[in-house]
Amino acid sequence: MNTAIIYTSKHGTTLKVAQTIQSQINENASIVNLDDNSAIDLKQFEAIIIGSSVHAGAIPQNMQRFLSENQTTLLTHKLGLFMCGMQPDKQQEFFEQNFSTELRSHSSSNGLLGGEFLFHKMNFIERFLVKRIAKVKESVSAIKTDQIELFCQQWNTIS
Ligand SMILES: Cc1cc2nc3c(=O)[nH]c(=O)nc-3n(C[C@H](O)[C@H](O)[C@H](O)COP(=O)(O)O)c2cc1C
Repeated sequence: MNTAIIYTSKHGTTLKVAQTIQSQINENASIVNLDDNSAIDLKQFEAIIIGSSVHAGAIPQNMQRFLSENQTTLLTHKLGLFMCGMQPDKQQEFFEQNFSTELRSHSSSNGLLGGEFLFHKMNFIERFLVKRIAKVKESVSAIKTDQIELFCQQWNTIS
């Protein structure tokens, strides 16, 4: 099955997660950065996994636009959705706010896959906000490898 993992990532964590998913799913998937490919021809793929991180409660605007413009097409594909973020208690809420009911219920695998704070990749404002709001002072990785495995197992059970 021709498969794409389409993602957006600010500091590289969602890409890292996308690569782990790529290595664990049965299909040979291409990884596509939405930031570099605004007009992706979805017809060339039969299965699509969408991944995005959340910043200030929202996924990036280009991903929001992509999802709303392509929802009808995405609903005709095998679909997976995952989100990266660092507020575990809020991820389900963010997931539901950022991915439509239609996409979520059509999706074969939905994953809340954790995230990272990478201070060396943040700009001054991001560093200030993370220190102030998340009360974190140094880089931390909280990628949920067990949830990635579950996400891929679920994906692999559906043809
Ligand atoms: C400025 C800033 C704001 C963030 N806001 C949120 C947030 O509202 N909720 C959350 O769960 N995680 C938040 N995060 C954590 C990111 O989702 C996390 O760093 C993620 O791993 C980023 O992935 P990326 O590098 O692929 O963009 C924020 C991170 C930064 C730097």
